[in-house]
Amino acid sequence: MARTKLAILISGRGSNMQALIDACAQPGFPAEIALVLSNRPDAGGLDRAREAGLPTAVVDHAGYETREAFEAVMSDLIEAAGAQLVCLAGFMRLLTADFVNHWRDRLINIHPSLLPAFPGLHTHERAIEAGVKLHGCTVHFVRAEMDNGPIIGQAAVPVLSGDTPDALATRVLAAEHKLYPACVKLVASGKARVRGDIVKTDAKVDGLLINPA
Ligand code: GRF
Repeated sequence: MARTKLAILISGRGSNMQALIDACAQPGFPAEIALVLSNRPDAGGLDRAREAGLPTAVVDHAGYETREAFEAVMSDLIEAAGAQLVCLAGFMRLLTADFVNHWRDRLINIHPSLLPAFPGLHTHERAIEAGVKLHGCTVHFVRAEMDNGPIIGQAAVPVLSGDTPDALATRVLAAEHKLYPACVKLVASGKARVRGDIVKTDAKVDGLLINPA
């Protein structure tokens, strides 16, 4: 079966991108990476992508007068690469509703909290301050509102007494690296589909979406 072509959008170190690179290298994984695109020329993840022999592109947002102009160049590159699914992996620019709607149900994101709790930044610090006992990460289809959209999968991470934001972030990141490939696998193989405002999955994958192996 043909593998789903991915475009991965990054702004930084790219550890989630690396998890997707590693997953795509596994025999039988239903996706392959067609493009790694960064909005920052100095993103560490670009080096990792080049080392893996992947096509890379930089679209530096600073060089564009409007978000629309910046996004038009990104969309052209993503389309030229033949990507069928766009994965945001630490991509730190807000996207316009036009871009999000253009890629509707073909654009997914990983966020370091159990959405809808703690959208936005500093999620680990906020989780500790709120006193929640369960934190984690979410992979979701992207909608125009930030960190919002049909949830594909979540991984739960307990908050421990004495946790610092950094310690909690480290454990959540380890969960992210399992969750993102698991969710891409489901979407790429057609086992997770948007129905209205939620994602419907086969009952056989329910456990995977809570604690991915
Ligand atoms: C991750 O915590 C991700 O959930 C968030 O930004 C961070 C990116 O890290 N959106 P990396 O670049 O994938 O290492």
